[in-house]
Amino acid sequence: MNWKEIYTGKLVSAEEAIRNIHHNDNVVMSFGCSEPRGIVRAMCEHYADFHNVQISNMLLLGETPWIKDEYKGHFSFNCFFASGSNRAAISKGDADFTTCYFYEIPYVLRDVVKPRVTIMSVSPPDDNGFVSLGTNVDYIESTLDYCEVKIAQVNKYMPHSHGEALKHVSEFDFFVEIDEPLPEVPTVPITDVEKQIGKNCAELINDGDCIQLGIGGIPNAICEELKGKKNLGLHSEMVGDGVVDLIKSGVINNSKKNNHHRGKSLLGFAFGTRKLFDFMSNNPDIEMHPIEYINYPPVIAENDNMVSVNSCLQVDLQGQVVADTIGLTQFSGVGGQVDFVRGATMSKGGRSIIAMPSTAKNNTVSRIVPTITENSAITTNRNDVNYIVTEFGVAQLKGKTMKERARALIKIAHPDFREELGKVFEERFGEKVF
Ligand code: COA
Repeated sequence: MNWKEIYTGKLVSAEEAIRNIHHNDNVVMSFGCSEPRGIVRAMCEHYADFHNVQISNMLLLGETPWIKDEYKGHFSFNCFFASGSNRAAISKGDADFTTCYFYEIPYVLRDVVKPRVTIMSVSPPDDNGFVSLGTNVDYIESTLDYCEVKIAQVNKYMPHSHGEALKHVSEFDFFVEIDEPLPEVPTVPITDVEKQIGKNCAELINDGDCIQLGIGGIPNAICEELKGKKNLGLHSEMVGDGVVDLIKSGVINNSKKNNHHRGKSLLGFAFGTRKLFDFMSNNPDIEMHPIEYINYPPVIAENDNMVSVNSCLQVDLQGQVVADTIGLTQFSGVGGQVDFVRGATMSKGGRSIIAMPSTAKNNTVSRIVPTITENSAITTNRNDVNYIVTEFGVAQLKGKTMKERARALIKIAHPDFREELGKVFEERFGEKVF
């Protein structure tokens, strides 16, 4: 059979495809810009036909339909990264959250969650019968190896990205053609504080380094400040729109990569707007790879001079980093933060950076604190941490004593909170802070 016959033989309506989901099934779905919303809508319309179906997913950009009251007993939701639309439900116990390092998620899914059904978005097939997983390869690629039922929403808006995103039509069981614009992560204007943080981070990044950029408001600010650099490499779990201009202008050209990916930008998923989707479509210089590869610390460390940049919510005076909880509230998830902190630390000439504004909530709370908020989980521990950056400067912590760490952190705290932090230092260590 040629691929066109295979493809058309598997084309069904959304209603037909979802009939293959059984009661008590675990279903895994692609997330973010790749959320298969056409199929999600069909499942929600027919919710009464499903009993006790668990949906596993990561970061949802819009609403979380599965947690609506009327779906109780029909659907339940388990995520690896909380977002605004499900944070409260997780806190109340109306949705579940699973914590683990991002590089482990494919194994946790396969060996523990054991979904029987996988649902994802793909591009239309190319002339050789290959669809592309487009914006998201991450944990969803390996579900094609172990799920019994493989359903894809074929969407002409999905970019035809390369690397391990390309999958032959024979690898799926059902195709549902629904064209609709992808969920996007809007670009928000860079604040003055973020601009200064971007400048401080850029001072730690040298020509020829290989970079990873995390999630939140800071990565785009850093990209702006990297415009004067040369020969950067990109090996990142995710990217937003900020990298497009850097690649187009040749600032990121991957020419110094010392592994077998020289000349290629490596990504696990894209998290931006049409600008990014169009740029990555049919672009062989951008290679999408599964997260168990991209985020595996020894693979990250194969890049010499690897620099990871991630963000956080709180750092205490020992250098313990809280990035995904506020007390018992699950704010986000560990994502790839620790994978990249460790990979960058293991890399020859590598460095890890955690960058954050010095305050939150309109300058009313300091993010540098004597002790972390009770019940918060530590994301990056004090042994892994190295550089902490705020708009007030850089604190280099690895190899430093407890006193040195605390002093360095107080120096980059917001001036309104330095006196208070200084008093804590003096009580704790019995000597003047400065
Ligand atoms: N106490 C109370 N509230 C706080 C706070 C603190 N210490 N720190 C931040 N907040 C509030 C902010 O005021 C803001 O509230 P608002 O939305 O009402 O304005 C909110 O929490 C988000 O903070 P902000 O720093 O603006 O978030 P961000 O979008 O820049 O994302 C992280 C920052 C830390 C949440 C994000 O990077 C993350 O989830 N990191 C963990 C995972 C990771 O690093 N993965 C690597 C790549 S995926």
